Amino acid sequence: MVKIEHLSKTFIQNGIEVKVFGNINLEVKKGEFVSLIGASGCGKSTLLRLIAGLIQPDSGTMLANGEPITAPSPTRGFAFQEHALFPWLNIYSNIAFGLKMLGTFKNNKSLVNEWIERVGLKGFEKSFSHQLSGGMCQRAALARSFIVRPDLLLLDEPLGALDAFTRMNMQDEILRIQEQEKTTMIMVTHDVDEAVYMSDRVVVMSPRPGRIRKIINIELPRPRSRISGLFTERRNKLLDILHFGGEEKEEEYKI
Ligand SMILES: Nc1ncnc2c1ncn2[C@@H]1O[C@H](COP(=O)(O)OP(=O)(O)OP(=O)(O)O)[C@@H](O)[C@H]1O
Ligand SMILES: [Mg+2]
Repeated sequence: MVKIEHLSKTFIQNGIEVKVFGNINLEVKKGEFVSLIGASGCGKSTLLRLIAGLIQPDSGTMLANGEPITAPSPTRGFAFQEHALFPWLNIYSNIAFGLKMLGTFKNNKSLVNEWIERVGLKGFEKSFSHQLSGGMCQRAALARSFIVRPDLLLLDEPLGALDAFTRMNMQDEILRIQEQEKTTMIMVTHDVDEAVYMSDRVVVMSPRPGRIRKIINIELPRPRSRISGLFTERRNKLLDILHFGGEEKEEEYKI
């Protein structure tokens, strides 16, 4: 689904070059759920933006479904770190936005109501983002991403604004939808439990320059239990890598 080779990206900040990463290699299979985890500033959002086609790399290749990624595409959905609903559109219009862009809204009006219900926002169709909680906005943003049924969904900390209980419910909801829609997912998260609970593989990134330090396979059966011994074992392993990573052997991993 996604194949990235030798990807490098540098930004110019106040006349100074900031090398975000120099050589990222990553493959994500169709239907797979991959999480990116790592310190702030290690380039997670930049990597997602590159895959989305929103920005261009300095060098390297990026393929989605075998085609070079050169620009954004409706087949690659993107949910931003800040929920980024359009403040001038109400919840209904925000969720319907992608369908309108694709020109399929008229034949799919019932789908908008279906998604509003799915994310628990019935009754709030006419509300605007400033009138809702952060969690409600994130749920609306998720509905807006899923409604156009992208092959690949790129999620940048999609649940960051949620309280712990709503967050766990939304994790289950995303997994349920992902299973139904067979969407390939790449999700940035800072939450170790979330990464282990949701992912087939967790990509651990390190900063300065950003690189993939380790990839952990989470081979636990689904649906997963947050309290099983096997879950705790994976979680501890990931915590260990994140906290004592300086001792890790530097290797270039490829998935
Ligand atoms: N548009 C930009 N212009 C200049 N520098 C940028 C730009 N976007 C990102 N950067 C720089 O690239 C580096 C990586 O940023 P990025 O947003 O990808 O990090 P991140 O891993 O997503 O961090 P966080 O966990 O805090 O969201 C940072 O040093 C940042 O300052
Ligand atoms: Mg980020």
